[in-house]
Amino acid sequence: MKNGKFVTLGIETSCDETAAAVTADGRTVLSDIISSQIDVHEAFGGVVPEIASRHHLTQINAVIGAALSEAEVTWRDIDLVGCTCGPGLVGAVLIGLSTAKAVAYAASKPFVGVHHIKGHVCASYLNTLNPDGLTELHAIRPPHLALVVSGGHTDLIDVRSYTEYKLLGSTRDDAAGEAFDKVARALGLGYPGGPKVDAIAAEGDPESVKFKRVYLEEGSLDFSFSGIKTGVLNYMNTERQAGRDVNACDVAAGFEASVVDVVAAKARAALRRTGYGKLTMGGGVAANSMLRARMEAVCAEESAELYVPPPVYCTDNAAMIACAAYYQYRADGPSPLGLDAYATLPLNEKF
Ligand code: KG4
Ligand code: ZN
Repeated sequence: MKNGKFVTLGIETSCDETAAAVTADGRTVLSDIISSQIDVHEAFGGVVPEIASRHHLTQINAVIGAALSEAEVTWRDIDLVGCTCGPGLVGAVLIGLSTAKAVAYAASKPFVGVHHIKGHVCASYLNTLNPDGLTELHAIRPPHLALVVSGGHTDLIDVRSYTEYKLLGSTRDDAAGEAFDKVARALGLGYPGGPKVDAIAAEGDPESVKFKRVYLEEGSLDFSFSGIKTGVLNYMNTERQAGRDVNACDVAAGFEASVVDVVAAKARAALRRTGYGKLTMGGGVAANSMLRARMEAVCAEESAELYVPPPVYCTDNAAMIACAAYYQYRADGPSPLGLDAYATLPLNEKF
């Protein structure tokens, strides 16, 4: 405890960000340290799992130290250590998880393992301190609908309480972010592709090159993005073989419009089905400008409130993990120190 507040240390290493953060009473971010490996993986055009693990190992202690010192707390102040235990690159998850368990044991603090996607949902609950040290509060609380769109996941979730989640729909093949990254590679934009596609799409005409929208069966809230990615690749090959120039901005805009149309339609259907007047967004693709603008329009039409966290809390971070850990610990208590790391993990698994 510090100043009567419950202090949580969160740790996240499930992909290519080594992150540690400290929150007070779950929601208030006291520090949020992220060491990104983008430069390391850029040369390979994507995340290399073995290299990611090795980098986590060299960075993790310094990142945790920086999170504690920036939050101006010591190990004595920490009430809980929470860490992503899956889903993710299992070797990468293991580095954060082993470290979290070790520091929790050494400092005699309780430990909880956190589902990474629950972290992305909890990113919408985070408050930051303004320059006067006062908390900027916002009122997002369950129940609500959550859309998590990241490099590994595309999920529509019925968030019934801070700890009860029901998956309404998810991708059957590629995640939305994966499609962005693959299309970016095809356009020669490099890694990570999402922000680059976002930037050039703003210069293009979304009507100029049309790609198929895949809605699946009537009433399904699932997604499929592998067809859109293939459609883009086929279009580019055909154009090049015919000796025509490919306008990358138009292709990016057309691709983005096809993803956004499908995601918006499914989110609208989920809002109607759950009857919730609130939608939160999370995951790296939630930073996408066309998606944000469209979701604002959809929510206005459905008289629903939309909350999208600032970009730094949309992509992987440990503040969202600390927040999820806090609510999970309050509801279910600590996890066993024997907890494993998981590449895949059902949303409702208790640990
Ligand atoms: O949530 P995140 O940091 O990591 C995962 O848990 O996957 O999401 C990373 C993904 C990448 O695929 C990246 O290309 C995508 O989010 N992304 C974007 C944007 N910013 C990041 N996609 C579209 N538009 C963006 N502005
Ligand atoms: Zn993520």
